[in-house]
Amino acid sequence: MTLDEKIGMVRGVGQFSSRCVGNISPPSRSFVVSGTNITIPPLCFNDGPAGIRLGGSNVTGFPPAINVAATFNRSMMYARGVAIGEEFRGKGIHVYLGPAVDIMRNPKAGRGWEGFGPDPYLGGEGAYQTITGVQSVGVSACTKHLGPYNQEHWRYGLDVNVDDRTFRELYWWPFMKSVEANVSALMCAYNQVNGTSSCHNAALIGEEGYLRSEGFQGFVVSDWGATHDSAADNANAGLDMEQPGDYILIGGGVYAGLEAAIDLGEVTEARLNEMVTRILTPWLRLGQDQGFPETNFNAQDPDGTDALNLNVNVRTDAHTALVRQIGSASAVLLKNNRTTTTGTTIRGLPLSKSIKTIAVVGQDAQQLNLDCGGGLNECNDGTMIIGWGSGSNNVEFTVPPIDAITDFVQDFATVSSDITSNDLTGGPAVAEGKDLAIVFANAMSGELGFYNIVDGNEGDRNDLNLWWKGGSLIEDVAAVCNNTVVVIHSVGPVPMSSWNNHPNITAIIYAGAPGEQTGPALIDVLWGAVNPSGRLPFSIDDDEASYGTSIVYGIDPFPVIDYTEGLFLDYRYMDSQDITPVYEFGYGLSYTTFSYSSLSVEASASSASFSFVLTNTGSVEGAEIPQLYLGFPSSAGEPDKVLRGFDNIFLASGEKQTVTVTVSQKEMSIWDVVSQAWVVPSGTFNVYIGASIKDIRLTGTFTI
Ligand code: BGC
Repeated sequence: MTLDEKIGMVRGVGQFSSRCVGNISPPSRSFVVSGTNITIPPLCFNDGPAGIRLGGSNVTGFPPAINVAATFNRSMMYARGVAIGEEFRGKGIHVYLGPAVDIMRNPKAGRGWEGFGPDPYLGGEGAYQTITGVQSVGVSACTKHLGPYNQEHWRYGLDVNVDDRTFRELYWWPFMKSVEANVSALMCAYNQVNGTSSCHNAALIGEEGYLRSEGFQGFVVSDWGATHDSAADNANAGLDMEQPGDYILIGGGVYAGLEAAIDLGEVTEARLNEMVTRILTPWLRLGQDQGFPETNFNAQDPDGTDALNLNVNVRTDAHTALVRQIGSASAVLLKNNRTTTTGTTIRGLPLSKSIKTIAVVGQDAQQLNLDCGGGLNECNDGTMIIGWGSGSNNVEFTVPPIDAITDFVQDFATVSSDITSNDLTGGPAVAEGKDLAIVFANAMSGELGFYNIVDGNEGDRNDLNLWWKGGSLIEDVAAVCNNTVVVIHSVGPVPMSSWNNHPNITAIIYAGAPGEQTGPALIDVLWGAVNPSGRLPFSIDDDEASYGTSIVYGIDPFPVIDYTEGLFLDYRYMDSQDITPVYEFGYGLSYTTFSYSSLSVEASASSASFSFVLTNTGSVEGAEIPQLYLGFPSSAGEPDKVLRGFDNIFLASGEKQTVTVTVSQKEMSIWDVVSQAWVVPSGTFNVYIGASIKDIRLTGTFTI
């Protein structure tokens, strides 16, 4: 390739000049390499982590990562990756801009739902499975955003001050797992880390940095407009590609100067060759040079109607079924006070067909506004299935709860509803005297983008509260109906203690952000076709102070944010401070019960394995999520319990199974800053196996 051709490979074509959210200008000629004719197409980069955004019509609205995290089910994480990959491939997208693996450092973080929550191990498993799934169908994944990038306010320039060990063990962990999964690309973030902007931070992305030392062989692409320094600075620091290639209000466009930098000798041609090689290698490795569909949509046309949008149908029945399955598998049953008469449920869950009069209350039950924010879903208007920003998807099609409920019960019950707004008079009025009231409430957040504000929230939530007086609506409905079932759709924790113990509230489902099949997925859980097995991927508490971190809102200029909490986020912090949350990490009920017995431990310095017997002791089949928490030797300075394993075990009533959970050497290690290596600390480890961080059923120890 000529110099110009190489520069065309590493530079975006501009925010508004591509059919995809990002693209490059490949050489216009073909090459013969080892007898094979190679023509490089424009490489299409597109959002988002939960399915195609701006992709014309006929795409599936998958649930975001926070919900697949709540399934604690690796095969579902993988299946979601495969299905998303198939849709990206079908639209001719070479690079899937996901998964997002940013740790939910604070529960109000605007983009927390795009990732897998506050726990690095769960995030690492989610990243690994998603990438393996997406890449199995020949689409490149691009893990983002390195990072750490954990709040929206001031994201274009805030400076994260994080120590080496905290970075390695928490924020880096899912990126490390991404490299293990052979991820093709990685996106650097807008913000600075330890005083240097992420995309020119050699400690992160350079030759000797974290990423390349881990063995990463793909390319690093800038977040859109995240190049804040000169072409030479970025290229020499390790940035392989700049997107979108021009200046988009917040920055960028620096690789326009790359040719001059090379002429001046500031960047070597060898470095440019390396950049091009890193970009082309995944394209060849995944076979995208053979039979990859041409790009057939136009991201510049959010409503999908212009001539460049061929509206190729990438939806399939299997994808729809999978979204419904993840929706029900991620629903977390937080409370269930069931009353039965001769075997039939009359209050609580699962619902029976003897329930004849049903009230549906709350605007979160109704169809959402399918056309808001020009491809960014920037409103909370109707049921909440995904947050806003680039992590949203097309939000083109959804089955809202009201439709699914009305349809499902038509032969045996009547539905009355008050759902056009959260009406504190109309809602209770419709609920009074009914056999059952299902009350819906939600909370939403998203990406800052170009300083967009949704009902006063600039990306990050302003507070933890339910939106649109949702908490008051729940209380007022519960006051008049003694069989009130609460359904929460939220991007993260919301306060519950003012109503969760109300005797008239017989059940609470935390359904998160379930994607387009939200209604059918809920029906499956409510009427018991699916026994709930979702578990909280974060702790729920009323008080933000219980989380030990905060969002920095209103200071100017760009703040320096010190991650002084170190390793102590979410349940790790609460445990260390003896804070009992309203519902803890890993918690979730089932319609059946499980017992744990006979723990055996086999451990050496290179791995450990833990076996125990799990029995379904209840009367219906269902899945249990046994969790393994490790207590490191006290000299190690770790939180008391850290998640290091989980499984998803489906058992018939009365069935038992021996479950084995293994932990690798790295998972038994801490990052030793002195030796700059993962080291297994010597001493006695405690092993905790149970149904949540607080519901430990078996304990053991081993000594290294
Ligand atoms: C977001 C990225 C996204 C990109 C392209 C940025 O503002 O931070 O996550 O992939 O835009 O839309």
